[in-house]
Amino acid sequence: MGGATNPSVDLHQSLDRAAELIDAVKALIVPFVRAADEAAPLKATGNSTVTTASGEVRNALVDEHAPEALVAKFKLQLPDEGRGKEGALELFEKVLKYSVNTWDQGFMDKLYSSNTPVGVIADLLLSVLNTNLHVYQVSPALSLIEKLTAKQFAGLFGFTGPRAGGVVCQGGSSSNFTSLVVARNTLYPETKVVGNAQHDFALFTSVHGHYSVEKSAISCGMGSSNVIAIPVDEFGCMIPSALREAVVEAKERGKTPLYVNATAGTTVLGSYDPLEAISEICKEFNLWMHVDGSWGGPAILSHKHRGKLVGSHLADSLTVNPHKMLSVPVTCSFLLTPDIKVFHAANSLPAGYLFHSVGEEEPWDLADLTLQCGRRGDAVKLALAWTYYGAQGFEQQVDHAFNMAAYMAGLVDRSADLVLVSSNPPPCLQVCFYYAPGSQVSDDAELNTRTTRTVAERLVARGFMIDYAPGEKGSFFRVVVNTQTLSGTVEGLVKAIQEIGREVWKP
Ligand SMILES: Cc1ncc(COP(=O)(O)O)c(C=O)c1O
Repeated sequence: MGGATNPSVDLHQSLDRAAELIDAVKALIVPFVRAADEAAPLKATGNSTVTTASGEVRNALVDEHAPEALVAKFKLQLPDEGRGKEGALELFEKVLKYSVNTWDQGFMDKLYSSNTPVGVIADLLLSVLNTNLHVYQVSPALSLIEKLTAKQFAGLFGFTGPRAGGVVCQGGSSSNFTSLVVARNTLYPETKVVGNAQHDFALFTSVHGHYSVEKSAISCGMGSSNVIAIPVDEFGCMIPSALREAVVEAKERGKTPLYVNATAGTTVLGSYDPLEAISEICKEFNLWMHVDGSWGGPAILSHKHRGKLVGSHLADSLTVNPHKMLSVPVTCSFLLTPDIKVFHAANSLPAGYLFHSVGEEEPWDLADLTLQCGRRGDAVKLALAWTYYGAQGFEQQVDHAFNMAAYMAGLVDRSADLVLVSSNPPPCLQVCFYYAPGSQVSDDAELNTRTTRTVAERLVARGFMIDYAPGEKGSFFRVVVNTQTLSGTVEGLVKAIQEIGREVWKP
């Protein structure tokens, strides 16, 4: 009764149905990506909006609506009775229609960008396998990929010893959090059993460090007030002498200095902290040195830019997210280490119902090194992209992205209406600047913030999405270029910002 139409009882045909569904969605996905490609040449004009044959004004980037309006338009109804292929495709299409098309050149908002075809097949592979990487027995191939990819990646940062390697976590915040747990459990192993009570731990990161460090401190019961923010220089880089002073002061106040987070590519300006000088202080006071290269770490792939990370080999742990700069699909984050056994000693627990390889020399049950039990095989996304492009291809992409950032910074610098906040060339892929007629940033912070926000909002209708961040004189623009950004795109964006800026500038 109803067996042929009710998807819930159609088990014996499940593979055929998957093939049919995959074919059907291919017909929806390809035009979605193509729309972004077709919009690309229009970006240089500063407005990629098109009018369709039916008179509808559209841009490929997004069909934007406020949350309440989108709820009303979406009309999401999760049914009692399965609607099968027709219902699934209808919802699939709606999700595409109302999503931000990150394949569009105009998506320059956050620290990630469009996927790539090889990224799409990587996600498909993970979905088909539906593998859980807690233990080797159920995920032999993907555990191997994770271990060997992490090892090779670690080697690039100078972790070249026999036990160098790493693990995949669910994102940069999660990698950073894991690094703090590993740091505490390694330097103060008794805390695994008795907790933090015997120590009033202090952590250090620059004022420009990512908020995940504070979140990690909160989650570890150390408290956000024990994350000490170290001042930065004019380029946004941590000042080592200030770090040293803060460590000494913390000790004098009875704290136990534990962990320094040095950032390689800060979230707003893209600055790289001086790793060698920071390492010296960590060694002097027996502190764990973590490098948060979530964003800027992949610069290591470029001969031209890897100097920004000089000293990375001195770190005790390092986060790097291929899902940010390398256009690998979200999420793909590695926590790398000079010694994988340290992760094992820090995080292993005797869960005999899951881990059956206790005592073996080489850890292959990767959940035993991490804070998770069930884990996705995100490493294969990097491995497939690395195989497809090669390290040389990655290098070209990274160099291209840095060139685009420099190109855009030059355009901003030469504009009479804009003033750079970033240095020129910028340290990473963000270009930060104010709208400032006559090349003079107004002292009226409210005016600057209002202008920045209004311009950013109006850009969406022209097919550009950019972000902004608070600064000394109010909010400024933060544009993020990526490995696929074209020169016409940044030219059109600067033009659009100048045009809208003139309309909305009301001192
Ligand atoms: C420097 C830095 N660290 C960590 C993170 C967090 O990474 P994720 O978003 O993967 O959790 C970010 C995010 O932008 C970041 O910029």
